[in-house]
Amino acid sequence: PRKIIIDTDPGQDDAVAILLAFASPEQIEVLGITAVAGNVPLTLTQKNSRIVCELAGRPETLVFAGCDTPLKRKLVTAEHVHGKTGLDGPSLPEPTMALQDQHAVDFIIETLRRNDPKTVTLCPLGPLTNIATALQKAPDIAERIQEIVLMGGAYFEVGNITPAAEFNIYVDPDAAALVFACGAPITVMPLDVTHHALVTAKRNAAFRALNTPVGEAVAQMTEFFERFDREKYGSDGAPLHDPCVIAYLIQPDLFTGRHINVEIETVSDLTLGMTVADWWKVSGRQPNATFMGGIDSERFFVLLTERLGLL
Ligand code: BDR
Ligand code: CA
Repeated sequence: PRKIIIDTDPGQDDAVAILLAFASPEQIEVLGITAVAGNVPLTLTQKNSRIVCELAGRPETLVFAGCDTPLKRKLVTAEHVHGKTGLDGPSLPEPTMALQDQHAVDFIIETLRRNDPKTVTLCPLGPLTNIATALQKAPDIAERIQEIVLMGGAYFEVGNITPAAEFNIYVDPDAAALVFACGAPITVMPLDVTHHALVTAKRNAAFRALNTPVGEAVAQMTEFFERFDREKYGSDGAPLHDPCVIAYLIQPDLFTGRHINVEIETVSDLTLGMTVADWWKVSGRQPNATFMGGIDSERFFVLLTERLGLL
């Protein structure tokens, strides 16, 4: 299996991503979960990470708390999407498993140094603050990273937090700029992909029909989280942004994209956090990321539902 660190700000869609990773032990070994401030403050994202581990029956997972504010800016949160707790929807028990003492950033650095080069993949599902801080503190880790597969950005679909920017990149654009310039192989799941991974009523019924605590919790999470997207975009259900990252590791042929140059806007107020994706290769700048643009959503949901049924 591929060794990964999940860097996350749960978030209902983060939770589903974590569950999908746990449900896929033949392809994925979760070395640890590192929480970051994003959808809700760090005190909640680290707790929510543990709630999800316990829901999955994986209380032995190493969970770390990381950065509680973006590199240079005030934290922007998304309770308007995810609710007050970040995991609104199901009522899940308070976690009893421990939070590790080590800082998430140090765990990321240590893990990359301890393992053979290019054998650990980072999966950021929130703002990139932890990853950027690790790269700043230990620049040697950049060439040890196998791949960074992240959810963030938008090109054709433009923004969900401002007209120009996607939430994860917008919250910490300075961190994102650092990560996109680090030289490690990067694969991006932008809104262009994730807005097509919609939990329609039929797909949610399939989660519920699993007839398991996980299936029921996922159904309730997406029922809560879809309100925002239905009202705002008139979309046909909740977009499962973050699970696209994990699905890519399991079944990369679900996605199509281009290896292109992607730069992050860090100066303009108007377009702060925009992922300037050179889709048509007009800039002459060096490609630094594989920016996905398409998803086979039918097969994505078959995979997801099947796997969640294993938990
Ligand atoms: C991203 O922002 C968060 O609200 C979601 O968890 C996802 O990671 C989508 O823009
Ligand atoms: Ca997230």
